[in-house]
Amino acid sequence: MSQFSSPSYAASRYDANRPECPRTVLNKVVDYYKIAAKVNGTGSLLVDVGCGSGNSTRLLYSHMGSLGGSPLIDRFVGCDVSQKMISFAKASVREMGLDSSLSFDVIDYLELQNRFDANSVEILTCMESVHWFTDIESFWGQCHRILKDKVGVLAVWGYVDPVILEYPRLDAIFEDLTYGNNKLGNDWSQPGRTFLKNLLKDIKIDNQSFTDIEENVITVDQIRKAENLETLGYVLKRKMKLQDLKDYFKTYSSYHSWKLRNSEGISDIIDQAFELILKQENTLTMDAEVTVIWNSTYKLARKY
Ligand SMILES: C[S@@+](CC[C@H](N)C(=O)[O-])C[C@H]1O[C@@H](n2cnc3c(N)ncnc32)[C@H](O)[C@@H]1O
Repeated sequence: MSQFSSPSYAASRYDANRPECPRTVLNKVVDYYKIAAKVNGTGSLLVDVGCGSGNSTRLLYSHMGSLGGSPLIDRFVGCDVSQKMISFAKASVREMGLDSSLSFDVIDYLELQNRFDANSVEILTCMESVHWFTDIESFWGQCHRILKDKVGVLAVWGYVDPVILEYPRLDAIFEDLTYGNNKLGNDWSQPGRTFLKNLLKDIKIDNQSFTDIEENVITVDQIRKAENLETLGYVLKRKMKLQDLKDYFKTYSSYHSWKLRNSEGISDIIDQAFELILKQENTLTMDAEVTVIWNSTYKLARKY
């Protein structure tokens, strides 16, 4: 999974256009942690693996860190294999004037046990990243080693394949853009994208090392059918301009690969898809606000 590490990958576009993990899921992580831990915050550590531009770590920090008054967690470390992403994340902390309890480092998931002490981490998060970790057994092993005995929480979250709630007729265009053979379909790193498309069902948390494993999935079909979204609990939904949705698609690693394969002068594949959208739904404009929904999943577990 090298696209996010490419010097030409736009970390700023990633940061501006990716959705945030819903508060309901963050609260579940907090509750999960509080059940087993005698929480007083002191010396506690959260490690966010595959943190990208720092978007997920900053969110975790604002939810569980000192901003809220009495912190649940003292220190947050975002790790990513991409130097480009980590440089952006570090700069964002400086620009936003966030405190030193939040830091970032270039760390491969296979290096976690060399970089964090055994039995030292309260919460280990993996947001929209675990599907890229090809040696999953090693990853679970390293999580197990660095998480605190009987207390440490492993929290995985992922989302995929957005559609527009109000315009189901456009679903086919998004599907074709993302997976079509002559579109972005062949530019995904595999098996990562297939793991994510299947909502991480094939990535099983090791039940020899972890207990209290909880897994949940919400699909866009469930969201479309629900009379009351509140009953679904943790829907990933965002009001966006159509232009912002187009920019979101341009954060795809597959799009980065497609761009590298296609020289200047070739009509942009995402621009083409959005032109088709405007033709198909001719009342829409790029400034129109739409409700974007994603399939999403979370997994929670505690170290034995
Ligand atoms: C889709 S981004 C997720 C970023 C962020 N956590 C979020 O919620 O948006 C996936 C990240 O996983 C990182 N990644 C891929 N392979 C990795 C590895 N071997 N070790 C650490 N991070 C890795 C990529 O560099 C990328 O920044």
